[in-house]
Amino acid sequence: MKILVVADYESMSNAAAQIVQGQIARDPRSVLGLATGSTPLGVYKTLAEYHRQGLDFAELTTFNLDEYVGLAADHPQSYRHYMQENFFSKVNIRPENTHIPNGAAQDLQAECLRYEQLMAEAGGIDLQLLGIGSNGHIGFNEPGTAFGSQTQVVDLTESTIQDNARFFATPQDVPTQALSMGIKSIMQAKAIVLMASGANKADAVHAALRGPVTPHVPASVLQLHPFVTFVVDQAAAGRL
Ligand code: PGA
Repeated sequence: MKILVVADYESMSNAAAQIVQGQIARDPRSVLGLATGSTPLGVYKTLAEYHRQGLDFAELTTFNLDEYVGLAADHPQSYRHYMQENFFSKVNIRPENTHIPNGAAQDLQAECLRYEQLMAEAGGIDLQLLGIGSNGHIGFNEPGTAFGSQTQVVDLTESTIQDNARFFATPQDVPTQALSMGIKSIMQAKAIVLMASGANKADAVHAALRGPVTPHVPASVLQLHPFVTFVVDQAAAGRL
């Protein structure tokens, strides 16, 4: 486990983007696991800048962590839409190589199985980017999620709905369910980078790194992974 404490959001984004760049330089056919939310926006912006300077994404494959249930791919708050807007449209990645669970699937259970199978067929994830919820969640794996879980339908907790309400007109518009890679799916990645910025993440970062390994703090499972880097700004590191 490596812990990089950097000054601020911009340094966090640059540090994480450099790790991604290194991965692509080592293997242009890498499989990246991607995250959404506010935290990775700076990473995607920096990677788009690297692309303008010549970084090639043509052979890359990506799998996103999660998607809301019930939002069509073109809904402005869907994670497919977020990824298109903030990253995929800015680099030369092939659309067919970008994977996100389909939250509008008729059969959600079948969609979860299909997603796990696709990841396996791609040879697994080489580098997984993660944010962390203020409640310690990774992906949409809320406190209490079994460490053995794979991609599944999850109920969002009230705190996650509140955290994400800022993106929707009213808290009632936030979907209450999502499809999310499970803890086991995430732990199967060969390397993991977790980013956190801001004082509202300080308790979660502290619990993840210094607390017991427990399903009550999903991110604490990362203590068991051999290649994890936490990139946290000073505010998020405030309790370490
Ligand atoms: P955020 O979400 O980046 O919007 O703070 C992080 C997360 O919930 O994993």
